[in-house]
Amino acid sequence: MRANAANRLIRHYVATARALPWRAPPGEAPPDPYRVWLSEVMLQQTTVAAVTPRFARFVARWPTVEALASAPDEDILSEWAGLGYYARARNLIACARLVAARGGFPDSEAELRTLPGIGDYTAAAIAGIAFGREAVVVDTNVARVIARLHAIEAPAPGQIRALTPAASGDFAQAMMDLGATTCTPRAPACGACPLNGDCLAFASGEPERFPAPTAKKVRPLRHGVANWIERDGRVWLVRRPPTGLLGGMAALPGSEWADAPGEAVAALGTVRHVFTHFALDLTVVGGGEPRGDGWWQPLGMLAEAGLPTLYRRAAECALASPLRAAA
Ligand code: ADE
Repeated sequence: MRANAANRLIRHYVATARALPWRAPPGEAPPDPYRVWLSEVMLQQTTVAAVTPRFARFVARWPTVEALASAPDEDILSEWAGLGYYARARNLIACARLVAARGGFPDSEAELRTLPGIGDYTAAAIAGIAFGREAVVVDTNVARVIARLHAIEAPAPGQIRALTPAASGDFAQAMMDLGATTCTPRAPACGACPLNGDCLAFASGEPERFPAPTAKKVRPLRHGVANWIERDGRVWLVRRPPTGLLGGMAALPGSEWADAPGEAVAALGTVRHVFTHFALDLTVVGGGEPRGDGWWQPLGMLAEAGLPTLYRRAAECALASPLRAAA
């Protein structure tokens, strides 16, 4: 990117930067590395709109990495409930403990990358935003901006990184904001873009063609049963095994998930939930005996149980079922 284009982008950012709770206004001292790290991990697969209120709750509860490091795993996993991709939360816990033990976050990309849950993108973002290092920060939004600037339909591996300038955190966040708010996947607002004069995709008249969409994956459908075991205004919940999908999260007890549907049973209902690699039809069956390592959760306190979205929806399905009382 030419230097005057980068300068125009920075000026645009100074005028339009979104005020986000983990951000310092452009040109000011960098924000707390703890807040930068936490926000970047939360934003890895989740939108700014979904992250913003959850980030606020999280830092109100644990204002420092030391506070987070000394919290029980279950409390942190419950606070993460609903954000999805729970391996992120497990890595967050491990990372917080290593960082607290070494007395703070390292300030180089190479050292940041050695920490759990911090890959190339997150290491570059933290080094750039929290420590003012020159870093090449490429997320999907930035990759789209670069692909359009150069009218690249199908970027080769490494091509986008090679074309992205190494720069400070303000530049990285200016690119992120441009991708999120102006250079959007569909109907980009090219008229409002400070880079339109440099953009080959804009010049082509069909900016949306760049980059070409990748083929949608077909997700297989899997099947499982969850048990709704209710006594005296409470329901039996269990904790899932520490690793694997939804590892360590609170759950309804139930079967292993299988590729083929089980035998038809009288059920309170079925919820379909889409994971990254498959969809799941979870059939909620009333009754049964409590088993495994679990606890009775008062129905009035289900919202505090830390259920991930799949099980929160399964519980709502059970609670709404006219057959529940009979179960
Ligand atoms: N997405 C990922 N990191 C971000 C940040 N720092 N600001 C805005 N959007 C982001």
